[in-house]
Amino acid sequence: MRRRLVAGNWKMHGSLAANGALLLDVLDGLPSEAKGECAVCVPFPYLAQARDHLAGTPLAWGAQNLSEHAQGAYTGEVSGAMVAEFGCRYVLVGHSERRALYGETDAVVAAKFMAAQRVGLVPILCIGETLEQRESGVTADVVGGQLDAVLDMAGVEALANAVVAYEPVWAIGTGRTASPEQAQEVHALVRGRVSVRSEAIGAGIRVLYGGSVKPQNAAELFSMPDIDGGLIGGASLAAADFLGIVRAAG
Ligand code: PGA
Repeated sequence: MRRRLVAGNWKMHGSLAANGALLLDVLDGLPSEAKGECAVCVPFPYLAQARDHLAGTPLAWGAQNLSEHAQGAYTGEVSGAMVAEFGCRYVLVGHSERRALYGETDAVVAAKFMAAQRVGLVPILCIGETLEQRESGVTADVVGGQLDAVLDMAGVEALANAVVAYEPVWAIGTGRTASPEQAQEVHALVRGRVSVRSEAIGAGIRVLYGGSVKPQNAAELFSMPDIDGGLIGGASLAAADFLGIVRAAG
């Protein structure tokens, strides 16, 4: 049985004051009987604040990016070891905003995935097609290619300790969610692609859905057999919404 995960992605939002209030509200409302796991991925400067608020609580924390390099002359970059020092469990890699706005290629994303695992972080590998790609019928090729780049470079065993997040680019921050059936189709494809290389790892890997998940649509999405939770952007910035989604995950 795969343990569900609901992970917040705050993106470039927050302040010390706002985060403090948000984290307290989320901790306050976390269902004590929850079987699933939840986490928040915060901007780098707030990792210490997340650790201070969340250490010893059921809410895990993580970063949204890391460098593919271990250290060196890479001004402005942050290494996996630095992130790990703040007690993070997770780190997002290859979010579509990183791919589209910062030129992260499949090869760079795969290198970041490996850099995360080298320091004991669990990468949440984000994959997903654009609207144009969906409309021209190449979703399976795009998503499969993004996944294969990591499988080829890191090997299927690496997926045993990782999470995949399917986030159709056209659903991110748009209010337009993939239907549960649309999402399920891609999730099954992702699991199948891993299973071809290792049945056990395919069966065990958690595949999250992301893109305009709200308390109102979460339960329906999470009821699909291959959807193991969510990666939550906008709705993770309001405690009531995030908690509604956490509750929907059971
Ligand atoms: P959204 O973002 O929930 O605001 O659509 C999801 C994400 O980008 O991770």
